[in-house]
Amino acid sequence: MRLVFLGPPGAGKGTQAQRLCASAGVPQVSTGDLFRAHVAKETALGAEAKKFMSRGELVPDSVVCDMVATRLAEPDCAKGFVLDGFPRTVPQAESLDRTLAAARTPLERCVEFVVDKDELVRRLTRRQTCRKCAAVYNLDVAPPARSGVCDKCGGEVYVRDDDRPETVSRRLAEYDAKTAPLSAYYRAKGLLLRLDAAQPPDRVYAELLAGLRRT
Ligand code: AP5
Repeated sequence: MRLVFLGPPGAGKGTQAQRLCASAGVPQVSTGDLFRAHVAKETALGAEAKKFMSRGELVPDSVVCDMVATRLAEPDCAKGFVLDGFPRTVPQAESLDRTLAAARTPLERCVEFVVDKDELVRRLTRRQTCRKCAAVYNLDVAPPARSGVCDKCGGEVYVRDDDRPETVSRRLAEYDAKTAPLSAYYRAKGLLLRLDAAQPPDRVYAELLAGLRRT
């Protein structure tokens, strides 16, 4: 299983990736989570990424591509992976193609999660995330059992800095300008699977599994 999850902020990529990876036994490689871990550890890469993330802008391609190539070379990715939030630009997609071609492990599918803008804003402004294990909650549809405490690991559940309304608008604009063209990029390669991700999470997951089985 070698998959890319594509979709705007709040489309549910992380929610579905966590579920699929737990069931398939492959790692979820989320560039957002990797950057947040660097920020928490106060590394040089984290300091660089934070400047862009806090403004709702994409981190420069060179920084992201090197980080992902290093992560994909780790042993747990040999059995497959779900790339959640990478690539987000055409140069990132081309870099991924080169990395996978060198390893002779081509991408199998790009799953695009389609949701309208009003619903994305609603979801992001109600999202909470575990600081320790990155589990995703939503105060409307999937709240933690105990307020502020992660069901899975007991870590602190918090609101991401970039889920403030003004940063959310910038992230959505970045998506339209730089990431949306990847839908055509993967369609041209015959790899695109589009899902109606405005449905409830269980329904989206069922359609995801059905779509992957068809390939
Ligand atoms: P990242 O952390 O990847 O954020 P994102 O892509 O903006 O995606 P999100 O995590 O916001 O949304 P999601 O689709 O995973 O939705 P989720 O499952 O959480 O990136 C953050 C930043 O890092 C970027 O802005 C950029 O600066 C930088 N970065 C990362 N990757 C980069 C790259 N490749 N290049 C350059 N920069 C990069 O769900 C959202 C909410 O909705 C949750 O509350 C959830 O519970 C709820 N929900 C989920 N599914 C449903 C459903 N079906 N119905 C109702 N509610 C639902």
